[in-house]
Amino acid sequence: MTQRPSILVARAIFPEVIERLREHFDVETNHTDAPFTPQQLAERLQGKVAVLTTGSERIGAELLAACPQLKVVANIAVGYNNFDVPAMTAAGVLATNTPDVLTETTADFGFALLMATARRVTESEHFLRAGLWSKWALHMFAGAEVHGSTLGILGMGRIGQGIARRGAHGFGMQVIYHNRSRLDAASEAACQARYVSKAELLKQADHLVLVLPYSAESHHAIGAAELAQMKPTATLINIARGGIVDDAALAVALRERRIAAAGLDVFEGEPQVHPDLLTVPNVVLTPHIASATITTRKAMANLAADNVIAFLTQGQPLTPLNPEVLPKVLNA
Ligand code: 8YV
Repeated sequence: MTQRPSILVARAIFPEVIERLREHFDVETNHTDAPFTPQQLAERLQGKVAVLTTGSERIGAELLAACPQLKVVANIAVGYNNFDVPAMTAAGVLATNTPDVLTETTADFGFALLMATARRVTESEHFLRAGLWSKWALHMFAGAEVHGSTLGILGMGRIGQGIARRGAHGFGMQVIYHNRSRLDAASEAACQARYVSKAELLKQADHLVLVLPYSAESHHAIGAAELAQMKPTATLINIARGGIVDDAALAVALRERRIAAAGLDVFEGEPQVHPDLLTVPNVVLTPHIASATITTRKAMANLAADNVIAFLTQGQPLTPLNPEVLPKVLNA
């Protein structure tokens, strides 16, 4: 009998997904769910041909050099800034991610965070829980209008378009966006979105939602200079990646009320959060949960597993990021 390939699942996932993987492979899991250090990850990967990762695992040249048997890394995430894709391609290692299955769920959450931020949901809940509610008042937690306002979107991929549709069709918002490339006319019409420059986006948006991938170019795309161009009544929502916003500059802008409020699901250096963000009241903070419904997280884990299964059994991954490595890996 030929030996079954060995694979690693780097974080705790759903047991039924592990069972599906075990139909094909010897599977090592991480029961404790404590993220591996880079050294532990390299040790666990010895003799493994595949690994399912999350944003917590960094896959770069050093790790790849230490794990020559590795053929495929399947991220349980659509974002893949934890991967050095050129290094993976150079090492002949396939990279995959989980697009599409999380689009609508993440767009729902973007809207939830926008609503919570504009309407001061968590700030008012803290006030109530602290026993501070002694009387109703006309101005109490008066926030910003959502319906009919101007929704700005920076990064108009699948999730950005999902947020635009919700704003235009559900809340009668004027939707403006900026993106590296402009959408075609049919896609713009479907979400009733108008392309503007980044400067116009910052100036006009009542609510600005960030949905762009993290890269060297998008690092601190929103810093002190950009925050200064926004309306003092505006809200800023980041469901994209930490590092796209300069969190220190944002904390200053929030404290000085240069913008009204922010809703953040992602942070520079998470799970650490800039201490100044923890002390300003006009920010809603959530621990990177935009895709976190049971259905969607299962779909993401299943798609990552399907990528590994389809690639290792048939040579055909479903959502490859560097398909150009396929001939090299398959012929190795
Ligand atoms: C993931 C995400 O849950 O898909 C992404 O890019 O940010 C989230 O949906 C997270 O990255 C864990 O892998």
